[in-house]
Order: sequence, then structure tokens, then C-alpha cells
Amino acid sequence: MKQKYRITLLPGDGIGPEIMAVAVAVMKVIATKFDLEFEFTEALVGGSAIDATGEPLPAETLKTCKESDAVLLAAIGGYKWDNLPRQQRPETGLLGLRAGLELFANLRPATIIPQLIEASPLKREIVEGVDLIVVRELTGGIYFGQPKGTFTDEQGSTRSFNTMVYSDWEVDRIAKVAFEIASKRNGKLCSVDKANVLDVSQLWRDRVTLMAKDYPNVELSHLYVDNAAMQLVRSPRQFDTIVTGNLFGDILSDLAAVLTGSIGMLPSASLGLKNPGLFEPVHGSAPDIAGMDKANPLAQVLSAAMMLRYGLNQPEAAGEIERAVNHILESGYRTGDIMSPGMTLVGCQQMGELLIKTLTS
Ligand code: IPM
Ligand code: MG
Repeated sequence: MKQKYRITLLPGDGIGPEIMAVAVAVMKVIATKFDLEFEFTEALVGGSAIDATGEPLPAETLKTCKESDAVLLAAIGGYKWDNLPRQQRPETGLLGLRAGLELFANLRPATIIPQLIEASPLKREIVEGVDLIVVRELTGGIYFGQPKGTFTDEQGSTRSFNTMVYSDWEVDRIAKVAFEIASKRNGKLCSVDKANVLDVSQLWRDRVTLMAKDYPNVELSHLYVDNAAMQLVRSPRQFDTIVTGNLFGDILSDLAAVLTGSIGMLPSASLGLKNPGLFEPVHGSAPDIAGMDKANPLAQVLSAAMMLRYGLNQPEAAGEIERAVNHILESGYRTGDIMSPGMTLVGCQQMGELLIKTLTS
């Protein structure tokens, strides 16, 4: 009997629907090839959900996600919704999805693709061979810490504040994910914090250090976040697995992504313990090119591959997609964001057609 999976699709905003269409077309071919059955259900999140229902994460969407085997998200946000109150912003929908599904572990690989090395803003000698993964804590820290808010103090000044807080168990569970990943990769884990200044970072460092005893094969190091940012630019090859909190991970994962010169190529996975995982490109919704058939769908397609590998345990199918992407790059096809002299410029749709052709030939 065919293995059947229920997949929730969240195309979101901006270029989301165009790149999602390519990923779905690819998944359909994969289903035939590997004798799988995908039941796709589309749901609203972000700006498109705000327009349709008034809220960025309708209860119905969260329910649909919870009932599925995996969630594939494209991108959310756009200028149109930037000035709404925070509760009605697209970003709030994404954060609600992460919290609602308890997806505390965000995996963001940043690997140099040899065919695209010229697209990196850094010199070839520095980025050649970079292959790292940022493991970002995703449901705690300053993004969700209480109390938070805005108030008027006795002097009449308006003051706003957020709280950066972690519990020992929150650090432990993300550290465990990171140690496991590091032990399956190169056995090198770097924990990033700001323990020279922040109490919350001292707890982080103490808990990660404690866990290292359970992983004698993993070599653990610690860096302060400012130094980590510098080291990532200066000599990124020293890193294998990086584990860090929500805010530092947000910043460092963008930095790591741009090293590869192709943020349009990078997938990510967000995983929890009891709910389906969420898979999405690292890049945003690029409202400036939405609907123009200029978007690079490859990060979305590779997110579908990551979903097959980490969410549905179908590594062969994932590998097939990854090989097809490589083949297309090797054949010289590029979207605008990764274009270089001598290559063939294609649009989003054509990139999809090339993938299908590769997968079916
Ligand atoms: C990311 C994004 C989000 C974040 C925004 C859109 C809320 O920057 O996924 O990195 O800050 O986590
Ligand atoms: Mg970010």
C-alpha cells in the first residue's frame, strides 16, 4: 500500500504562492516516482490571512497544521501590513505558529554550493567548503519572554521593554538537539551567548556545558555573540554546528545565510517533540518582486526536500530532489538572485519546469 501523508501548505504572502506552486509540482512528481501519496491542504497565514479573516493566524489554520504530518510554509509579510498593530501583523502569525506547534528547534543549514561560490560577497578562499548549521532556539528567549510592554513612567517618559528569559529545561532540550546533530556531523558544537554581560546567557552556558558530559564525542566550544558574528565573516570554516538562543540565532542565521551568496537557496526546518514539523525557506516574502515570475523557488523546493528527510522520513525522495536541483545548477540555469556571467537566466516558473523535466527524464 502507498504511504500516505497529509501536508498543510501555507503559501503566505509576496512570492510565497509562486514558489509554493513549484514545490507542489515537484512533490507530485516525487509522489509518483516513490509511490507515495500526498494529501495537500492549503491554509491561510500572515498577510493573506489578515486580509481574509482579520487575523494573521486563524484558529482553523493552526488546527489544520496540527492534524497533518508536516507543514510546508513559503513566506509571510509585506509593506501592506507593516503598520498594523503588532497583534495583527503577519510576523505575529508566524510566531503563533511556532509557539502553537511548540517548534522549539530551528535548523538552518548554510552550505556553500560550489556552483554558486561566485555569488558570495566574500572571497572564495574564505567561503570555500563552508558547511555549517545554526540550531536556533525558537519558542523562548526575548521573542516570547514575559513581562513585556510599553508604559509611561513617573517622569512621563514612554518606556518599552521585553524580557530575555530561559528556563534550564528550555536550554537543555535545544542543547540536546544540537549535540545530537553535531554528533552526526563533524562532532564540533559551538554555543553562542553573551555570558559576559547577561545572566540569562550564563544559565545558557552552564546548562550547555553540563550536557557536554553526555556527549564525549562532541567537542564543545563557547563564543560571545559579537565575536561569533566576526568569526563567521572572518573564518566561517571553523564552524560546524552552532547552537544559540532565539534572538542571536535570528541574527546569526541571516549572517550565515549570506555567506553562501544565495539566501534564495537555503531551506530550514522547525521541529518540536509532539507536533508536525514546519519547513520553510530562510528568505522572506520579497514583496518587491512578487507576481513578476522572478523569484528563486529553489529554497522552497529544498524545504520540501528537508520535509521529506526530517519530517516524513523519506530520505531517498529528499535526495532525489536535491540531486535535481544540483543538476540544474550544473547545467547553468539561474534565477536573477544567483545570476552570474555566462549563465542562463530563467524565471520562477521555468525553473520549476526544468526541475520537473530533470525528475522525469
Ligand atoms: C526569521 C524571521 C522571523 C524571526 C520574523 C519574520 C518574525 O526573521 O524567521 O528569521 O524573527 O524569527
Ligand atoms: Mg530572521
